[in-house]
Amino acid sequence: MVLKEVYNPHTESAFDQYKTEHASSIADPESYWGQKALENLDWFSPFDAVLQGSFTDGSVAWFVNGKMNACYNAVDRHVDTKGSQVALLWEGDEPGDTKSYTYTQLLARVCQIANAMKAEGVKKGDVVTVYLPMMPEVTMVMLACARIGAVHSVIFAGFSADAIAERIAASQSKWVFTSDEGLRGGKRLPLKNICDNAMNKEICINVVSKCFVFERTGGKCNWSDSRDVKFGALADSQRPYCPCETMDSEDNLFILYTSGSTGRPKGVVHTVGGYCLYAMETCKNSFGLKDGDVFACVADAGWITGHSYIVYGPLLNGVTSFMFESTPMYPDEGRYWDCVERHKINVFYTAPTAIRSLMRFGDTAPNKYDLSSLRVLGTVGEPINPEAWRWYYEVVGREKCSVVDTYWQTETGGHVITNYPGVTPMKPGSCTLPCFGIEAVVLDSQTGKEIEGNDVEGVLAIKQPWPGVTRTCLGDHERYLNVYMKPYPGYYFPGDGCRRDKDGYIWITGRVDDVLNVSGHRIGTAEVESALVAHPSVSQAAVIGFPHDIKGQGICCYCTLTYGHEESEDLVKELRNAVRVAIGPFATPDLIVPTPSLPMTRSGKIMRRILRKIAAGETDTLGDVGTLGDPSVVQKLIDKVETLQ
Ligand code: WT7
Repeated sequence: MVLKEVYNPHTESAFDQYKTEHASSIADPESYWGQKALENLDWFSPFDAVLQGSFTDGSVAWFVNGKMNACYNAVDRHVDTKGSQVALLWEGDEPGDTKSYTYTQLLARVCQIANAMKAEGVKKGDVVTVYLPMMPEVTMVMLACARIGAVHSVIFAGFSADAIAERIAASQSKWVFTSDEGLRGGKRLPLKNICDNAMNKEICINVVSKCFVFERTGGKCNWSDSRDVKFGALADSQRPYCPCETMDSEDNLFILYTSGSTGRPKGVVHTVGGYCLYAMETCKNSFGLKDGDVFACVADAGWITGHSYIVYGPLLNGVTSFMFESTPMYPDEGRYWDCVERHKINVFYTAPTAIRSLMRFGDTAPNKYDLSSLRVLGTVGEPINPEAWRWYYEVVGREKCSVVDTYWQTETGGHVITNYPGVTPMKPGSCTLPCFGIEAVVLDSQTGKEIEGNDVEGVLAIKQPWPGVTRTCLGDHERYLNVYMKPYPGYYFPGDGCRRDKDGYIWITGRVDDVLNVSGHRIGTAEVESALVAHPSVSQAAVIGFPHDIKGQGICCYCTLTYGHEESEDLVKELRNAVRVAIGPFATPDLIVPTPSLPMTRSGKIMRRILRKIAAGETDTLGDVGTLGDPSVVQKLIDKVETLQ
């Protein structure tokens, strides 16, 4: 495919400059990041050393002994020069239901919220759980936590009560924010009641002291006078100034739970100094930010994408951050483009799954709107297939915008591999080249040796620390070491396979662990399996991802039933529901396959490779089934899946 002219077309000189800057950033990371930290962040007192520690023993620390505050950097410091500029531009569920807050207004409201939290007893270091819909308060609460040194733990509002309870208990979080209800696509979601179900579970009794409730819809919800606080009113009564807590660069800023290959979600920890610098720099570079930009990341604040590119990245850079409460389909499939036109959005950032689902409706919707404000289009979450890339580039971007394919993860804090607009020549489907400060290498998965040269395939690894890398898993440093640092000693291991093409460009080939990527959401197969086997009718479950046109991956669950339980439509419904209850609706299985037995090796291991092929319909390339205990199981499963699909 030939790429036509783009608004900010790459030039050879810009590309050469990238190569030079990238080379120097990895040759001498300490001077590179040290200088960036001094130039771009405001420090209450300077750091003694830029970098300390290493991946090998998991002791990485950045900007050692430096003192700062993330909220101060994201809000306060802009007030003098851009006080009247809009910091937060919110569009609610109904088109045109908007609210905006200038930097001055944002500071005042964040301070009121911070003061209200202090009045209720929230202290520096406390973990504050945030289960809020996409209302402006989610951003404000995160910033207010940062301001007083509390550690926010945001839980995406699609998680179930079980999942919330598990996270509250794991982090021993005394404080929980929620709202009466949420509103999405015209539907009300009973968030407070879901939260109540979580807080009332045994593992949370005596953990939660107070539940702070904002009003979103004014709808009815359960109420406990001793525990629940009408938080909007409490904040209204507070002084609109609250001093910033002095934080050490390595104090915890937030935790965010994410799935791994075991049943328990991991509390990924990010710290103040390194995370802020990395979110700020990647937001600026990857999207080619300009002063005055309206930056729209339409992810949910409950995922890392929202943390880094709705809240911290754009605000640290002092641009206008757009927050979106609704869905791309409400009231119709033109909603995103309607927002772009009305709010004159310059940078638009979404996931391939959203692009694919909109593309199905054709070009009419994007063609109806004036999209001329757009300069950069971003994608994140999974590799973007070239068809979707082309539609995004041609129909949404009118062949005038750069499309940036940003590869990263919860643990990396910000982008680690992406093209830069106007800088890196684009290739649809490839996340292209590493960001400044990132030394990306391809390893042989067996030997762990670096594979040199181009046109090679292996697992992705990152060779030296960067400021945004997660520092630990909450309460479990051993797990942190085991998952990220020990698989390939001396490297950070993200868990993805990749290919480096003849031009040195990286193509992500997908997770190499038992983690699924469903609509850009990470779901551990073990979490789904444990939800299934908790049901009395299931004795064994094997959960597999399979290619799905819109979602990227769909979830297929093979279940063997316990003695006396018969397969039925009702049972399939119940099992599907069991997963929704344990994790949340976004993890709903696409396919449930009850089966008398699973293909096992003679030593009793489930042969996932075969189950994967069956779910994908690739039954002519099953490979060797000779090591199976009972090879006839395979044909039975093939027949079964065919009838279900
Ligand atoms: C996993 C991380 C980072 C925000 C969204 C998800 C996959 C992410 C890309 C991309 C190919 C990608 C990887 C990664 N992934 N972006 N541009 N191209 N794959 O965050 O839940 O932490 O998931 O998403 O497999 O490891 P997450």
